[in-house]
Amino acid sequence: MKFIEFKTELEAAKHVSEIIAKKIKSNHKINLGLATGSTPITLYKCLVEDHKHNHTSWANVSTFNLDEYYGVDYKSDASYHKFMLDQLFKHVDLKLENTHFPEPKGADFDKLIKSLGGIDLQILGIGVNGHVGFNEPGSDAHSLTRIVDLTPLTIKVNADKFFAGKMNEVPKQAISMGLASIMESKEIILLAFGKDKADAIAKLKKATTFKADFPASILVNHKNITVIYDKAAGSDL
Ligand code: PGA
Repeated sequence: MKFIEFKTELEAAKHVSEIIAKKIKSNHKINLGLATGSTPITLYKCLVEDHKHNHTSWANVSTFNLDEYYGVDYKSDASYHKFMLDQLFKHVDLKLENTHFPEPKGADFDKLIKSLGGIDLQILGIGVNGHVGFNEPGSDAHSLTRIVDLTPLTIKVNADKFFAGKMNEVPKQAISMGLASIMESKEIILLAFGKDKADAIAKLKKATTFKADFPASILVNHKNITVIYDKAAGSDL
């Protein structure tokens, strides 16, 4: 696992957006795994800027999101479909039929990813509790896409970030790619920004083997993963 620190989130996001734009330009077809939450917002802004100024075309890109809340209306502000549309999809020339989200029949999503050639590059965030996607502590290393229960901590964190602190408005379940699904990606870039993530990044750097109480530790077994973080997220290293 490679660890690269940038001074600021913006510098890190620009670096990753350049990597993604280069891959998009040099591949006839590319499958990108995407994340939601606060972490990738600056990255998506940089990608939209790149599309505007450098005319990188997303016409041959397919996307696969890590997760979606279970039971939400995909047009509602709570949904990750809407998040992706607002943050990225509607600002680039991506064909919406080439965007994919996990569905309640989870196994179908894993089959779909495989049938379309697998994920070339997966962007990941990390939860303060070490979750990746919504694979909460206790997740199985062999887990595939499935419906999961969110922990009270995740519900609280997401309430504060996206639901004006109203925990009762945060869906309690989600559909998430599993840890094994994520590990199938050919390349992974995990992003972490801010002091809140410092503990998780320090734990990830120390991890040597998978421990279910810190799901991100599965990534120590991946052959092509880079962890990119800002100074604040690296402050416990
Ligand atoms: P965040 O979430 O980007 O909102 O911090 C990351 C995660 O929970 O995986």
